[in-house]
Amino acid sequence: MESNNQIDIVFNIDSREIISVLPTDFSIQTTITSPPYFDMKDYGVNNQIGFGQTYEKYLDDLQNIFKTILDRTKEDGTLWIVIDTFKRNHSVVPLPFDLANRLKEIGWIFQDIIIWKKDKTVPWSSDGFVQRKIEYILFFSKGIKFKYNKDITRVYDTQILKRWWVKYPERYNPKGKALDEIWEYPIPVQGAWGDKYIRHFCPLPKEMVATMISLSTDENDIVLDPFAGSGAVLAQAAYMNRKYIGAELNNNYIEQFNNYLKETLTNGQKEYNLIKSSPNQTSFETIIWKLRVLKYGRVLLNAIEKQLNTRNGIIIVNPLEMQNDKMHVEYIIVVDKNAQTKYEGLASEIIKKKPLSLYGILPTIKYEEPQNIDTNVYYKYSSTNTYSYIKQPELFSKAKVYSNIKIDINEQQYA
Ligand SMILES: C[S@@+](CC[C@H](N)C(=O)[O-])C[C@H]1O[C@@H](n2cnc3c(N)ncnc32)[C@H](O)[C@@H]1O
Repeated sequence: MESNNQIDIVFNIDSREIISVLPTDFSIQTTITSPPYFDMKDYGVNNQIGFGQTYEKYLDDLQNIFKTILDRTKEDGTLWIVIDTFKRNHSVVPLPFDLANRLKEIGWIFQDIIIWKKDKTVPWSSDGFVQRKIEYILFFSKGIKFKYNKDITRVYDTQILKRWWVKYPERYNPKGKALDEIWEYPIPVQGAWGDKYIRHFCPLPKEMVATMISLSTDENDIVLDPFAGSGAVLAQAAYMNRKYIGAELNNNYIEQFNNYLKETLTNGQKEYNLIKSSPNQTSFETIIWKLRVLKYGRVLLNAIEKQLNTRNGIIIVNPLEMQNDKMHVEYIIVVDKNAQTKYEGLASEIIKKKPLSLYGILPTIKYEEPQNIDTNVYYKYSSTNTYSYIKQPELFSKAKVYSNIKIDINEQQYA
């Protein structure tokens, strides 16, 4: 067979013949696709998969295509399939699960099922079949180890996070909240694609595609869509500096895609570069660490003093540096010399136990006498609040936690 190494192209072929166009010198990193519906939609060309086939033949075709793709996928490569159930002869056909079983048979490892929650879809429902608002996203890998850039897709937008992050920073990964199994992305409206572009049946939302691409590829990796349709997957891959390969039976869609990409590539890449270089994740990480480090000091001092039934001490918090993913912090407990041994005994017990053992903090605890410390140089926090420093001098007497960390978050600001 002639070797083919063309990339960044959508081939006008039947994807049952995809082997003829897949590169021989490069392997695919991820495939993202939504296969044609079974026997429901006519995409207006001959040789369509789904339309006019039996269900078994339809599954056979998809199985064969995904087998070819598996063979040409990198060892750490993956596959995303967006797909839905439907109803035939008064009964639900569990297509996502039937297909998943077929793919398991040929060697794909079934990693995850994610729910794509759309805001709206066809408005009809029938008895025993409520209105549809979701589709399934099936995620497979070729091997047990696979590329999965989890940290890049974490949610760190503080307007989206529940306001718990302010009071409970220890519950949040400093890089943000991991994705969960429900992804909410509205279906793109015609306008979102530009007026000239595409009257296609089912373009995937570009932010959702971007999430899949970020998770499962790096720049210059190859993204494949064997049922390219509007080319939503491939355009997004191009914006994100990935290589793409597509197959699509309907040549009109390919022409529209090529024009669309030409028009939007520069802006799409600009948008991607902006997101990529955004300092937001780093600043979120910094805030979470500040909150944690201060809260640790407060919780420690409160726990000791509760057991001793006293309120005499204060604690000074000096963050030092990261050491193997842990934050090294110096805590100075300021209390009279004669009380220090009691504090010391309890502190060493408390830091070994939950919750403090889970904070990701490596503490060095020191003791100092009050007369040796100038507390004026620090921001002051109370025994109940280490996310907003005390500003009024008349409240300074309530200060229990002192630090050069300045943090001032109004918890009410966050939904
Ligand atoms: C559900 S749509 C894909 C939509 C796409 N994900 C998007 O974002 O626009 C399925 C596509 O597969 C195409 N198709 C159907 N049978 C095919 C075949 N045998 N080979 C290649 N493409 C085919 C249809 O023309 C249609 O565009």
